[in-house]
Amino acid sequence: MSISYSEASRIFKLDTDNTTYMIGISPEGYAGHIYYGKKIGHFCGAGMLRCNEIPGPSVLKREKGGFQASFPYEYPTGGVGDYRVSCLDVSNEKGQNGCELCYDHYEISDGKPSLEGLPASFDKEKDGDVQTLKLFMKDPVLDLEVVLQYSTFNRENIITRSVILNNKGDHDLSINRVLSACIDMDNRQYEMISLHGGWARERHISRRTLAYGQQAVHSTRGVSSPQEHPFIALVTPGTNQEQGEVYAMNFVYSGNFVAEADLSQNSAVRMVMGIDPYDFCWKLNCGCSFTAPEVVMTYSHEGLGQMTGNLHDFYRAHLIRSPYESENRPILINNWEGTYFDFNADKLYKIAKDAHDSGIEMFVMDDGWFGHRDNDGCGLGDWYVNESKLQGSLKSLVDRIKALGMKFGIWVEPEMISPDSDLYRAHPDWALEIESRDPLQSRAQLVLDLSRKEIRDTVMDMICGVLHSADIDYVKWDMNRYLSDIGSVSVDSGHQGELYHRYVLGLYEMQERLVTEFPNLLLENCSSGGARFDAGMLYYSPQIWTSDDTDAIERLRIQEGTEMLYPMSTMGAHISKCPNEQVGRMTPFETRANVALAGTFGYELVISKLSDDERNMIPKQVERYHKYHSLIANGNYYRIHSWDDDEPFDCWVNTAKDKSESLLTYVQVLGRPNEVSRRVHLSGLDPVARYKLEEIVGGPSTDNPGDRNVDAPSLSRPEAVEELKEIWFGDELMNVGFLIPPLGDFRSRLYHYVKT
Ligand code: GLA
Repeated sequence: MSISYSEASRIFKLDTDNTTYMIGISPEGYAGHIYYGKKIGHFCGAGMLRCNEIPGPSVLKREKGGFQASFPYEYPTGGVGDYRVSCLDVSNEKGQNGCELCYDHYEISDGKPSLEGLPASFDKEKDGDVQTLKLFMKDPVLDLEVVLQYSTFNRENIITRSVILNNKGDHDLSINRVLSACIDMDNRQYEMISLHGGWARERHISRRTLAYGQQAVHSTRGVSSPQEHPFIALVTPGTNQEQGEVYAMNFVYSGNFVAEADLSQNSAVRMVMGIDPYDFCWKLNCGCSFTAPEVVMTYSHEGLGQMTGNLHDFYRAHLIRSPYESENRPILINNWEGTYFDFNADKLYKIAKDAHDSGIEMFVMDDGWFGHRDNDGCGLGDWYVNESKLQGSLKSLVDRIKALGMKFGIWVEPEMISPDSDLYRAHPDWALEIESRDPLQSRAQLVLDLSRKEIRDTVMDMICGVLHSADIDYVKWDMNRYLSDIGSVSVDSGHQGELYHRYVLGLYEMQERLVTEFPNLLLENCSSGGARFDAGMLYYSPQIWTSDDTDAIERLRIQEGTEMLYPMSTMGAHISKCPNEQVGRMTPFETRANVALAGTFGYELVISKLSDDERNMIPKQVERYHKYHSLIANGNYYRIHSWDDDEPFDCWVNTAKDKSESLLTYVQVLGRPNEVSRRVHLSGLDPVARYKLEEIVGGPSTDNPGDRNVDAPSLSRPEAVEELKEIWFGDELMNVGFLIPPLGDFRSRLYHYVKT
């Protein structure tokens, strides 16, 4: 049993293999947080809940204000005296805001319930590793039942949380704020880690010391956004990859979110996560329920590396449903950066043919194949094939490319409508808009009102019709603007505050239909690059386009932040042309390949425009992807070094779960004069096993004989060939490490070690 309850101490104890989470019920019936941290084997439980400072029930009545201000609520509510950040604000029919929850009863069961209409983790194995606790809380004044759900995933050391509200009374209620999780922690010093960015520089790691007051990251853009990410971790000062305590929360949701830490007057920290309350007001009519999305929590006392490992294992085993999750994905070539809108069937065929000759396995036709879409100012919503541009039917193009032995993929952007489209001309009220106000156009497009079923169905009927018309293996589902003008003609004033969330629910329903109707389809989500790269979308698609920035050096930070949470197989990563479209940088073809190898690998260029040298490198890169991808996708990931101004190199390691092999990737961002070798180390090996260096890929003078570093001192030469014959013990490689010579700007290497 990983979840237990002691009636004597009124304590719930939730265990995973290495962690314990404890909830206590106070004498007054409040549910309070006691502990989250290293596993507790035995416990008596006396006096553990921080409410004993309050002398007794009669005094408590008088002193309730003081009690409220410091009690570590498991799920704090607003309006009745706790002035810290709350999780739940509910108003009654008169519009008065106030809610107070007391414990009623509990249920413990095996497995993990699904969440209606929402992506959520699951228990596929059903081998007793996952259990769920439901705490039934009640506000008798509102006749509101609040079910706090906790599921423990032993092996991965994860606890998930979600909340269900049931209006049991005969009055309608309004939910003004409903978050999904809270940890009310004791007074400690913490730093807060979050992921920050913008378009083409998503998910850069940011770290700050927690100060008094509320500090939050959030999105009100209708998507999880590249600006902030639905993730925070509180860490003890000095925490690094291997040491320090980490409390992390990650949201399984793709719309507005808030993740917040509130350091209050007693120096206690409250950490919360949920849907951002901005423009949120959900009418909870009598007899109705509302389900708040899931939060994934993990604790590590062995630094950020363990947090990452827990999350990777959890998402692979319990969130990504796609049959492709553990498979090597086909190496794709996408025509976007190669042609933009300027293509016809012959041009696409030529790109596909050249790609196929180099070993690439799937051709993806990007934006511009439908309606009259010859630029980004029109056509969204007209999901019928432009047969004059494609010089025939979609099927004829698909069949032609498939005859090469390639798979075929297609781009769609189902959530949008161009004012210049047949769909808009037929249904001018289908876009989100506020009466009498010109809706904001972004990339000349408006957002469809996905809260309306007839709109969702019409769009999906069109898109599914196209997909049924030819043998399509892959879909790239794009979404290229944020939401604004949140108004719908179909709901009354009492329900407008539901639109942001109803939009996300509508999106989930559409993607559910897609993956159900086409069970073998490989779906890749995308949103102006990686604006909606989140755990919610991973429930539908096993890979997401990480960023529109395909520059190998920019990608280092983007991929590092992304892979801190998500398995590497989820990151779409492509080689594109140079100078790079986003930053104009020139990087070696080989480094572009080595960096893209960390994700789901592909190309975004026209092969005939490459130099002969570059073109000749592609078959080897294809081979390497097949050789290493399973190790990268299914093994353990270790971050060895993040590049900074003082040490401008990046380094990570992928080691097989059975410790049989390990691949180290090293990228030298900048070279420096008089540089000496850098020592790096492997991780996750068997300390007493022997490992042989089986392959070194890259660096100057291996692939590029004319490289300028050839004339540098011998120190900067790559390892001599005889080194490949040497053998080391695992602990040598992990502790002493090995030396990598200076490589020069933007140069990279892979080192592959295999257990002998
Ligand atoms: C977005 C995507 C790109 C491409 C274009 C097409 O920007 O991120 O990869 O698909 O849309 O319009």
